[in-house]
Amino acid sequence: MSMIAAFYGGKSILITGATGFLGKVLIEKLCRTSPDLKVIYILVRPKAGHTLQQRVSQIINSKLFEKVREVCPNLPEKIRAISADLNQNDFAISKEDMQELLSCTNIIFHCAATVRFDDHLRHAVQLNVTATQQLLFMASQMPQLEAFIHISTAFSNCNLKHIDEVIYPCSVEPKKIIDSMEWWDDAIVDEIAPKLMRDWPNTYTYTKALGEMVVQQESGNLNIAIIRPSIVGATWQEPFPGWVDNLNGPNGMIVAAGKGFLRAIRASPLAVADLIPVDTVINLTLAVGWYTAVHRPKSTLIYHCTSGNFNPCNWGKMGCQVLSTFEKIPFEKAFRRPHADFTANTITVHYWNAVSHRAPAMIYDIYLWLTGRKPRMTKLMNRLLRTISMLEYFINRSWEWSTYNTEMLMSELSPEDQRIFNFDVRQLNWLEYIENYVLGVKKYLLKEDMAGIPEAKQHLRRLRNIYYLFNTVFFLIAWRLLIARSQIARNVWFFIVSFCYKFLSYFRASSTLKA
Ligand SMILES: NC(=O)c1ccc[n+]([C@@H]2O[C@H](COP(=O)([O-])OP(=O)(O)OC[C@H]3O[C@@H](n4cnc5c(N)ncnc54)[C@H](OP(=O)(O)O)[C@@H]3O)[C@@H](O)[C@H]2O)c1
Repeated sequence: MSMIAAFYGGKSILITGATGFLGKVLIEKLCRTSPDLKVIYILVRPKAGHTLQQRVSQIINSKLFEKVREVCPNLPEKIRAISADLNQNDFAISKEDMQELLSCTNIIFHCAATVRFDDHLRHAVQLNVTATQQLLFMASQMPQLEAFIHISTAFSNCNLKHIDEVIYPCSVEPKKIIDSMEWWDDAIVDEIAPKLMRDWPNTYTYTKALGEMVVQQESGNLNIAIIRPSIVGATWQEPFPGWVDNLNGPNGMIVAAGKGFLRAIRASPLAVADLIPVDTVINLTLAVGWYTAVHRPKSTLIYHCTSGNFNPCNWGKMGCQVLSTFEKIPFEKAFRRPHADFTANTITVHYWNAVSHRAPAMIYDIYLWLTGRKPRMTKLMNRLLRTISMLEYFINRSWEWSTYNTEMLMSELSPEDQRIFNFDVRQLNWLEYIENYVLGVKKYLLKEDMAGIPEAKQHLRRLRNIYYLFNTVFFLIAWRLLIARSQIARNVWFFIVSFCYKFLSYFRASSTLKA
């Protein structure tokens, strides 16, 4: 009997961020392994013209929930959507709903956040810091609460190289920042943001660090744990391999590269690609929920959910596996290809961005304009390149995270729980995982037909040939212009041509003699 699954039986669980990437996998696993849980409260806001109920039924009727629908036929009754907006005071929850939440909740999983790296500091503080503070305040009024699990990120301290399982202080108290946001106007926030963020690369990581400080300061008598996942990728095993449904982080890069829009990124091939499958994160999260509630550790424990420490994979290997899946060539062949396709130095990337990203986009826009359609490619390309440039910080560095708590928890689980709630990434085969990931992006995210793979491969080959042709033409024009203007260039050119001619003449003469 699984102790973890049994623990969640009969419980009332509150989840924020339930409509997000992690949230959906969390609900799925909870309902599949503990179909006898009492209720899952999810805080949801209406969005894009969809009501709460429409959003919930979209989720539970999706492919991800296929297996749960079998084991938990009364799934819709188990999920109770509460209208809430985490940007509002008291989350704009009605009095009755608030009363129910306060009196019934046993476990809280706080997943909601803004994960946009370049979000405005005011908005990032509101969601990642102030909302966390408010939720902790709510939690402090819940008499039945057994555990509060806060999802942070392994990059909340990415300004450090080695990160321990502790909460590091930020120079300015989060409470002061929350207060200041009330009277600072946007111009002041913009001016002060770089000074506050100092060596944090973006508002996301900075506000997640502030969020952790808030958790520490407001924990009171609560039973709290923090989980810090690294870059969360598609499912590894459950409910099936390769499931993914958003364009964040590596997913967007896979789509852009797979569609032929992205030719090069600046990444260090040897830097550790600290990717962690979403089902691994959720298994750890559920195990932490159980451990925190049952064992009630004396202090807030932090769990790093990373792969680099256990089973490292670097960006070079990952890029080659992506290429191998795109082109259906063996990994070894992809590995022998010049790595420039996925990794390049600053100068080559600037060249690539200009010649193989921006210029073709502009030409395509001119074509759209000439054919009476609205040009859109340059705008799209600029957006893509801006997103990629924000990721560069993370794909050119490696970090070390200590994982004592995660290993301790692993050893606390029964063999059955280790199997059902597996978060041991030492067993992960990266090549197989990346292949499933890339195929999953095509199938579940882009919802494309898998029968179209040969066609997609041909499309990629065509785009690559256009790219080579474009480069050759560009080189010839540049060279022609240079020769026209510079005597030195002309001399070099004649020297190369005469050298080639002599070499060919010698080669022809020696093969005639041999004959
Ligand atoms: N994905 C990763 O690679 C990664 C890595 C490390 C840590 N994490 C952490 O994991 C957690 C979940 O991330 P994710 O990837 O699942 O993010 P996500 O897919 O962007 O989901 C964010 C969730 O927060 C909700 N939310 C945002 N603003 C809200 C508001 N004002 N009111 C109510 N709900 C709101 C969203 O609801 P809507 O659907 O209504 O927008 C959504 O459910 C976050 O704390 C993140 O920092 C993620």
